Amino acid sequence: MQDAAKGMEYVAVVDFGGQYAHLIANRVRNLGTFCKVCAPEDFDGKAEGLRGVILSGGPRSVGEGDVEAMKGRLAGLEVPVLGICFGHQLLAAVYGGKLGKGEKRQYGDTLLEVEEGARLFKGTPRRQHVWMSHGDHVAELPAGFRVAARAADCAVAAYEDAEKELYGVQFHPEVVHTRCGLSLLRNFIGRCGVRTPWEKEGIRERVVARTREAAGDETLFLLVSGGVDSLVTLQVCIEAVGADRVRSLHVDTGLMRKGESDDILRFLAETGFRNIEVERAEGVFLQALKGVADPEQKRAIIGRLFVEVLRARLRGMGLGDGWRLVQGTIYPDTIESGGTKQSAKIKTHHNRVPEIQRMIEQGLVVEPLKELYKDEVRELGRELGLPRALLERHPFPGPGLGIRFLCHDPEGAEREGTAYGAAGLDLPELGEASAALLAGQPAEAARVANLRGRILPVRSVGVQGDERTYRHPLAVWRKGGTGEWPLWEVAKALGNRWVNEDARINRVVATADDLDAEGLEIRPTSVSKEGLDRLREVDAVLSAALRDDPDVWQAPVIALPMFGADGRQAYVLRAVCSRDAMTADAFALGWERLAELSAAVRRIDGAGVLFYDLTTKPPATIEWE
Ligand code: XMP
Repeated sequence: MQDAAKGMEYVAVVDFGGQYAHLIANRVRNLGTFCKVCAPEDFDGKAEGLRGVILSGGPRSVGEGDVEAMKGRLAGLEVPVLGICFGHQLLAAVYGGKLGKGEKRQYGDTLLEVEEGARLFKGTPRRQHVWMSHGDHVAELPAGFRVAARAADCAVAAYEDAEKELYGVQFHPEVVHTRCGLSLLRNFIGRCGVRTPWEKEGIRERVVARTREAAGDETLFLLVSGGVDSLVTLQVCIEAVGADRVRSLHVDTGLMRKGESDDILRFLAETGFRNIEVERAEGVFLQALKGVADPEQKRAIIGRLFVEVLRARLRGMGLGDGWRLVQGTIYPDTIESGGTKQSAKIKTHHNRVPEIQRMIEQGLVVEPLKELYKDEVRELGRELGLPRALLERHPFPGPGLGIRFLCHDPEGAEREGTAYGAAGLDLPELGEASAALLAGQPAEAARVANLRGRILPVRSVGVQGDERTYRHPLAVWRKGGTGEWPLWEVAKALGNRWVNEDARINRVVATADDLDAEGLEIRPTSVSKEGLDRLREVDAVLSAALRDDPDVWQAPVIALPMFGADGRQAYVLRAVCSRDAMTADAFALGWERLAELSAAVRRIDGAGVLFYDLTTKPPATIEWE
């Protein structure tokens, strides 16, 4: 690993498969301590620089095997350990505690009573709200441990063995809903005594030095998509080896947003960087994607074509063997591709397709940002002097609009038995069922009683219980298109309930249109220039409308293979609030703005129904494919 943090002391997060392991690591880094994530089988208690260990949460129950394996790995460890959720139970079990089985997992806000003198809670109130994840629990503490905090339904909400420096919390200190969570992590880090601060200001020197080392005497070659990661990577390369040894290629795949390629080239020309070539490869990409509906297949094709275009260029430039491919891969990118042994493969990142993997194994690839999170990349970009407007652009995935254009292959849908008819599956009882769920809140219940619901016959990717899902969205709208809308928050909360209760769906989308009147139906669709051009127009209108909302972190627009009786295509706006893309919340757009945006979309030739995605991540991912 060409590691930007050689010689740094660090805290290790042992990842037991919870998607939150990265959130923990990101929080620790933001508190000024370097942090690495590793799989349990790769954890080495004797590793150089290790100063503390955090055992993450995870979706499973602690098993005998986990306890035995961890016993060996923690034996003789001389640094502080913090167990979170699954890790809290595991750590107690390793030291001889007893666990109790929970009937059902419960998540949510819980009031904690902290014991006098509890170390982790130093400087925080005696009563505080935490985000509990509570299924199994610690029923009996090991000798030497004491309860550090309790909650009404959780006697050992936190524990400590002050002498051995072992700590456990049943709740999640890393999520924002645990109000004193950062203080807890800070207190734990304080116990670890890391002597080399991980300061964002120092990242530049480390990343540049490591890139220079990895480059050796070779020429650096990189693909510049124009996104934040690739522009920061380009700048790092220039600083590391000088512009003369950096060559770059912008591939216009035909899957870019409106005006995107021209904007990037203009920016690079303005900064005086001349070593960029442009490959207009739209025809090649669109031809290869013709008739392909499966998202993973689309990702694989796009990734492979990038490599083919790149190889042809390298040959054309007569660079021979004396080059290294540089990629702007960031830390979370490697994870959702199944980059750690514990995480299931959610999506294949375009930087991790088989062709690239082979080049990585041959030592031909340099990834300067591989250990950084998005917020760290932006900070680095600021230090390198990149303009704010570029750094604050919404992230745009490498495969571009290719994974924002859902396709439909009727034979494939038939084979998998998921077609649900051309329009989808009506759920006429949805309004009543929702009202029943809100029985204690009559005003809200009355508002949702006129909801209509339909499971759409398309599918998208989700992440549920840390596993990839490929399920249908549930569309909701108001009966007859008139009457008062349910409160936004209520619809959102209900949405999450429906996803939890119905195994057919992983997303909920709302529309201000009346679907009964639209005659929306699925049609065979594949990636085409005409379809992409229209998506570009819809995307441009919606992006412009949201550009000035600082809370919107990213706002993908997705074309659906569904068309109204008037032949107009349906689209989804997926505006999210996030920090690191690992978790996300739907941006609270509000019905009025949704209605305005729907009207704006309809003014575009051939564009019809607009859906708004209300789902958090998890259970849905940010992109649909
Ligand atoms: P998901 O959809 O997994 O996305 O919640 C998380 C973040 O990653 C971006 N993304 C990608 N970026 N190549 C990229 O460069 C990819 O293949 C890719 N897939 C997802 C996505 O836009 C979001 O910011």
